[in-house]
Amino acid sequence: MHIFNNGKYKSLYAQTEGELQAIRQTVLTDSDFYPTYHLAPETGLFNDPNGLIFDGEKYHIFAQWFPYGALHGMKHWQHFITKDFQTFSKGDLLIPDELFESHGCYSGGAILWQDKIVAFYTGNTRRPSDNARIPHQNIAIFDKAGKLLEKRCIIDQAPEGYTEHVRDPKPYITKEGKIRFVLGAQRENLTGTALIYEMENLEAMPRLIAELEVKDFDNSNVFMWECPDLFQLSGKDLFVWSPQGKLRESHQFQNNYHATYAVGELAGNELTAEHIEELDYGFDFYAPQTIENSNRIMFGWVGLPDLTYPTDQYQWHSMLTLPRKLSLKNGKVVQQPIVNIGQLQAVEISEKIAIEQLDTSYLQISIENQPLALEFFQNEFGQHLTMRFENGVFSLDRSQSEQTELMEKFGSVRHCKIEKLDTIEIFFDRSIVEIFLNGGEKVLTSRFFIANRQNCVKSTRLLNAKVANVAAISVE
Ligand code: FRU
Repeated sequence: MHIFNNGKYKSLYAQTEGELQAIRQTVLTDSDFYPTYHLAPETGLFNDPNGLIFDGEKYHIFAQWFPYGALHGMKHWQHFITKDFQTFSKGDLLIPDELFESHGCYSGGAILWQDKIVAFYTGNTRRPSDNARIPHQNIAIFDKAGKLLEKRCIIDQAPEGYTEHVRDPKPYITKEGKIRFVLGAQRENLTGTALIYEMENLEAMPRLIAELEVKDFDNSNVFMWECPDLFQLSGKDLFVWSPQGKLRESHQFQNNYHATYAVGELAGNELTAEHIEELDYGFDFYAPQTIENSNRIMFGWVGLPDLTYPTDQYQWHSMLTLPRKLSLKNGKVVQQPIVNIGQLQAVEISEKIAIEQLDTSYLQISIENQPLALEFFQNEFGQHLTMRFENGVFSLDRSQSEQTELMEKFGSVRHCKIEKLDTIEIFFDRSIVEIFLNGGEKVLTSRFFIANRQNCVKSTRLLNAKVANVAAISVE
């Protein structure tokens, strides 16, 4: 075992007495923005959901975690266990303590193998002689109670023809009972792709089979594919991933990075896509991953690489989305949140009405495809969050709320084309909003920052809505 302690590459084993408690005290001074029903870090930064698995009884949900502040430092895996997405306990973490993960336990997925949870992940390492990044692919074996039993390295370098950017293995078991995993990669010519590896069993050497080819995906300018996830849904093959480098457009790929899906038929290593689309049109959504049980459930990161938020001063950063059940409708992905809401109450929204606890509530509005503008919240600086629908475009505008320079850099309005908009469902959780249009046909996930706010809403026309409080989750 090694105790790594090198600047921001500091493991939990190197914490000094009272260090995390002191950071936690700072987090607790944030009385405006810390969420109540999203999985968020007690201290520091969360990014990608990892190792998602249903063990037959409970879900294990891991998250990339840097414990010491709102920055991307030494990544650990935080580990939550739940039966109902409402009450969570904690399992053993992945704490970097081996040379094959000296600079962090990066992202990956998990399978159930002979009654054990086997997490595949990337060990980020830097070669001492020249600081070159050497990606390792590792496994960590847990029992179903969440106890870590063993860790080992299965691939100790990038394969030939690829750069140091090879990471985020997502495993699955084939019909023949073999293990396969897809791995995000960058070719030597600096274009993004994913690799498919196969293992006869858990003891066997992984063998590189081929690149996954996603036909009809325009890979121009794309320099890296992060967080690949390949699975089946309702008889179709789905590939979900985070390709980096797409040029920004006015109504799609509006962020610096984004997550995409391709749905179609996989034959060998070729996915012939019938539809390719961004998964989420909000400001802050990235690196989603799915779990399989009888349903396919997805979590994403409510955040993006290279972004700062106003809450960084409180030493915490980002959270996971709500779990979302995926289905296909007319060949496209539909996302429906799995969440425990209270009794729905009817409200009429017009000029300006107060809604108690709006900032931790669910709101359902039928708009019958008619134009509207809605303003949510209000504070002494006149800050608010605006949603509009007009000419087949739904927009979310956070220009009138607090933003960091980096948030502003990519613009303050996001657009989503939707042919006929019937219902808007909105989940507010203090500084997060998840918006589901037409029952999840389109989704927008975002952060917004309005301190010291009044819980109110204003509409340009009379609307019938329903509102319900969302139960806070508990982590024991
Ligand atoms: C995506 C990502 C992954 C990597 C991890 C590190 O957000 O960059 O590619 O494994 O985060 O935290």
